[in-house]
Amino acid sequence: MLSYQHEYHAGNFADVHKHLVLWCVLDALLARAKPFVAVDLFAGSGQYPLDRGPAARSGEWRDGIGRLWSLNRAPEPLRVWLDVIRSLQAEPARLKTYPGSPALIRQRLREQDRLVACELHPGAFAALQETLRADSRCHLHQRDAREAARALFPPEPRRGLALLDPAYERVQEYGEIPEMTREIRRRWNTGIIVVWYPLLEEGRHPQLRDTLLSRHPGEEILFSEMRLSEPPRGSGLQGSGMAVLNMPWQLDRKLPEVLFPVWERLDPERHGGLFQALALENTVGRPQFQRIDSQVTPARKDVTDHD
Ligand SMILES: C[S@@+](CC[C@H](N)C(=O)[O-])C[C@H]1O[C@@H](n2cnc3c(N)ncnc32)[C@H](O)[C@@H]1O
Repeated sequence: MLSYQHEYHAGNFADVHKHLVLWCVLDALLARAKPFVAVDLFAGSGQYPLDRGPAARSGEWRDGIGRLWSLNRAPEPLRVWLDVIRSLQAEPARLKTYPGSPALIRQRLREQDRLVACELHPGAFAALQETLRADSRCHLHQRDAREAARALFPPEPRRGLALLDPAYERVQEYGEIPEMTREIRRRWNTGIIVVWYPLLEEGRHPQLRDTLLSRHPGEEILFSEMRLSEPPRGSGLQGSGMAVLNMPWQLDRKLPEVLFPVWERLDPERHGGLFQALALENTVGRPQFQRIDSQVTPARKDVTDHD
């Protein structure tokens, strides 16, 4: 079943959250000259028009990238990310298109780096080919990500990240994704693995976190979650979550610096929140989340009512 269309949600608050965490992971890989590979297993179309079609109809991007677009003073990773998005517009001052994860990754590749992107939907794959055409650093596969999680790992070069950003159209995906991360880890013990997950009304995300932790015994996982006072209507999406396995050094300090000003802009009523936890499989009970209430990592302040 491939009925999900990311076109409706491109540039919304969850996309922004996901892409900024991804951006900070890429920053860490770029800090050294050694080549890296980014394997984007659920790549999508790569580029989304905002002024027509599904994104224009849903308008979700207006409360996402639309609220950040005019930001001038921002921490460096956020400023550079915004400059890249501005550079992709046909008219620099007008926001009309939003890049998906493979297009953002492509912007960061150096000569020595590579992108491997998988997309199963024929229409999305054709659009992805069009977006990333004629770039020998980008390798595109129209294949099932579940099969790719076994076939494409370990990648060359060995240094890099895998991004898992499925649609969660089927309940089974909450079990399949931790199985995929386990398969990837078995073959690739040095890779950074990044997983997006939705915080939905029916609340399957605690189960996803627990399963991820249990599939990776002894491995510390960073969870970053963003909630808004008024999430987009209709989708049931209450918030956005990112799990990072084998997180780059000090990512847990960097994310509040980058994401706090973003959350402040996206949630002016401030009834949502930005939360973070660093958890191990053998931690007793659920991950202890901290509410991030400044750009600087606060003194430990656990919240128990986050779920
Ligand atoms: C949430 S979207 C990806 C968005 C993209 N990562 C981004 O940030 O711009 C999920 C994508 O996964 C694709 N997809 C769904 N099941 C798949 C599978 N089993 N293998 C590969 N792609 C799949 C969908 O067609 C959809 O384009």
